Amino acid sequence: MSTRTRRRFLRQLSTGLLAAPLLPTSVTGKTLAAPGAHVGPNDRINLACIGLGIQGFNDLAAALQHPGVKLVAGCDLYTGHLERARELYGSELFLTRDYREILARPDIDAVIVATPDHWHDTITIEALDAGKHVYCEKPLVQQLDEGRAVLEAEARNPGILIVGSQRVSSILTEQARELYRRGDLGQLVLVETFNDRFSALGAWQYSIPRDASPETVDWDIFLKDTGDRPFDAERFFRWRNYRDYGTGVAGDLFVHLFSGAHRILDSLGPERVYATGGLRYWTDGRDVPDVFIASCDYGEQESHPAFNMQLRVNFVDGGGGGSRTRFVGTEGSLEVTGSSITLRRKTLPAAPGYGGWDSYNTFPAAQRAEFEEWYGKEYPPAPPAVEGPNEWTYRAPEGYSDHVHHFGNWFDAIRNDGMVVEDGAFGFRAAAPSLAANESYFGRKVVEWDPLKME
Ligand SMILES: NC(=O)c1ccc[n+]([C@@H]2O[C@H](COP(=O)([O-])OP(=O)(O)OC[C@H]3O[C@@H](n4cnc5c(N)ncnc54)[C@H](O)[C@@H]3O)[C@@H](O)[C@H]2O)c1
Repeated sequence: MSTRTRRRFLRQLSTGLLAAPLLPTSVTGKTLAAPGAHVGPNDRINLACIGLGIQGFNDLAAALQHPGVKLVAGCDLYTGHLERARELYGSELFLTRDYREILARPDIDAVIVATPDHWHDTITIEALDAGKHVYCEKPLVQQLDEGRAVLEAEARNPGILIVGSQRVSSILTEQARELYRRGDLGQLVLVETFNDRFSALGAWQYSIPRDASPETVDWDIFLKDTGDRPFDAERFFRWRNYRDYGTGVAGDLFVHLFSGAHRILDSLGPERVYATGGLRYWTDGRDVPDVFIASCDYGEQESHPAFNMQLRVNFVDGGGGGSRTRFVGTEGSLEVTGSSITLRRKTLPAAPGYGGWDSYNTFPAAQRAEFEEWYGKEYPPAPPAVEGPNEWTYRAPEGYSDHVHHFGNWFDAIRNDGMVVEDGAFGFRAAAPSLAANESYFGRKVVEWDPLKME
């Protein structure tokens, strides 16, 4: 079996597609949809970016730090973003409002999909079928029922799909994973994680250019299948605030928290999700909550016992905000931030002790004496334990970027026909509980999820 065939086989296994008789014959009957996407170990990678907004430009800044990668084309629906791309990347760039023109070009090997969430699945599937390698921004899909079609497109095509939750590639995540695997936490019982903010930009009130109009924006393409609506610059430039185009704070931010935790624990995801919250402060017309809390039950899996995970996003946090994840075990805790990880070890002594705030104090004198004698025999004085440092911190090196690292992972896989750290199944398994949290909140119900079958 060639590496390429083996890789596709592994992908099909990991996504359950080999076992699933769910594929329509039009899909299963198909061999390779596109012959392209082959890049040799020393070949230049010709890159295009579809969606040249905040993250599209951020992605390019990270991707183009890698040698042998050339930006050849860009696509966006707002004329100003196309002009900006020309300012930054030169007059030779091929620019269009129609992503299909990018996919039709045989000179393009790989595309970044950095559009709003409601376009992710369609463009990713079409790009894979057109023989491109794809870096799809998180969340992989906007709706739970869109996942399988993307995984099928990934499995039937040679192109490498990576999902853009860059913390999955981070050296901090890798260090944390090592510590967890070494057993430094004892038995995992709880993960608590949050991403809090309190600023207009943090709450997605992004700047709207003064020339925003139906002339400068392709509003019809933006709307996709969300129904007719007159041009609305707020909806176009602040799409995250609307369920039609975005995925709320869950799809935007929980997905990063799930991705990081799943990588550290090698977890496939939770089996039950419950969410609550509300729109408490940013009543600017948005239809998604700005305070959002979810509880997830993870069942026992090969790499972890059953545990609980609590997630929170709060856009009303006057306390300074920030993001942190804490893994709590029976022998310690591990705190992961954007720039460091800290392991704190605490093992309970074998002897429980008595006195203090204890029922021992309520015993009559004779019972106390009898108890003390029993305790001395039960827990003879032990020599003091030899203890190492009980707190250890690792910081990412100055200037380190997980975003650059993540693109490196994708480019290596493209050149060497390898696997990526965050393939479609991984990305979907992080997006799905986020979307399930939305379903729980809007449907006022607990959502059951099968993390193995992704159903
Ligand atoms: N990985 C991360 O840390 C990270 C950070 C920010 C955003 N993101 C993700 O990146 C994506 C984009 O977010 P953003 O902040 O850049 O939004 P944005 O609004 O700044 O940019 C989106 C761009 O996509 C364009 N667009 C919309 N539909 C299109 C289509 N059909 N074809 C071509 N272009 C189209 C818009 O014109 C806009 O310029 C989102 O999915 C978001 O979740 C990821």
